[in-house]
Amino acid sequence: MSRVLLVTGGGGVGKTTLSAALAVTAARNGVRTLVVTIDPARRLATALGLKQLGSEPSPHDHEEGLWAAMLDASASWKAIARRHAPADVANRLVDNPFFEAAAQHFPASQSYASAEEMANYVEARAWDLVVVDTPPSAGGIEFFSAPAEMRDLVGGRLLRWLTGGALPGRRALFKLTARPALRVAGTVLGSDLLERVAEFLMDLRTTYDGLARRAAQIEDHFREARTVVVATADPAPLLEAARFYRDLPDRVQRPDAVVFNRVLPAMWHQPEPPVDGPLVENLLRWGAEAHRQTDVREEFAALWKAEVATVPWRPRTPTSLDDLAQLIADAQNLPLDRLGVVAE
Ligand SMILES: Nc1ncnc2c1ncn2[C@@H]1O[C@H](COP(=O)(O)OP(=O)(O)O)[C@@H](O)[C@H]1O
Ligand SMILES: [Mg+2]
Repeated sequence: MSRVLLVTGGGGVGKTTLSAALAVTAARNGVRTLVVTIDPARRLATALGLKQLGSEPSPHDHEEGLWAAMLDASASWKAIARRHAPADVANRLVDNPFFEAAAQHFPASQSYASAEEMANYVEARAWDLVVVDTPPSAGGIEFFSAPAEMRDLVGGRLLRWLTGGALPGRRALFKLTARPALRVAGTVLGSDLLERVAEFLMDLRTTYDGLARRAAQIEDHFREARTVVVATADPAPLLEAARFYRDLPDRVQRPDAVVFNRVLPAMWHQPEPPVDGPLVENLLRWGAEAHRQTDVREEFAALWKAEVATVPWRPRTPTSLDDLAQLIADAQNLPLDRLGVVAE
């Protein structure tokens, strides 16, 4: 089985960049690595050798031991239905208007679909390490609760959302669809609607066993995975990172490290401006900001007893494989061996 390294954290903190950077570093250390990214910037996708969108892993033309795949972030309930229901039921489900409504109402499906892809790659045993960039919709910890959420939805919560009741037999279900909300909709849209609600719920129910089994396997992968939470010294990413230490569901392990990205150089702490003039004010301000970032990291480490690592802020967006590898080479305190980025 491949080892898994999950890279998570709030939006825009550098998850995709660091997933790629860790993967390049691993490949260069002789670890056969697949990086599964989501929505990489165009130049990053090019550097990774991703010519077109595809969930099929492709080997990098110029980097030995590196594969990349790009998940379709819109993959969702349709993929789930196709995987867990017989073909005819899946087709009927996908055509049902309630299906679309449910997919929009419950974004966990997107995380769950990505997590299923992740599990497929891990079980393929083709790589030593699979680095997974978590989907933006998950905003961090939601990715880890997606399997439980989906099991819960298909197992009954969706039914309660639609009908306000527990799962009854087929005949009782038709009676349930006489509930006022659905009856009004039925009057407006025709009695066909009621049948479609019932059909939808029954069809969805057929996916339950497969989905519940897969969800449990995915949770096992989560438990064995290494995790890094990426953050910056800003309020929203810090809150998101703190959730991994505070609200962690028991199926998720504590992160192996929290990585502060876009860190200013420590030498800026006490700037001794070499010149006088308008630039001096600016240097002093950046010095104060570097100080603030250090304080934030120290506070986070003390409050959550977390391993804190840092990645420097580059003046230019890192996009080439060399830029990415250098980013990790210049990182401080990253436990690369524990993360599986160095061969054992
Ligand atoms: N250490 C860094 N120095 C400079 N720019 C960075 C750094 N890390 C990430 N970036 C840039 O920040 C932007 C957001 O990064 P990205 O990896 O797409 O974040 P996320 O995947 O978390 O949304 C990108 O333009 C990326 O090139
Ligand atoms: Mg991203």
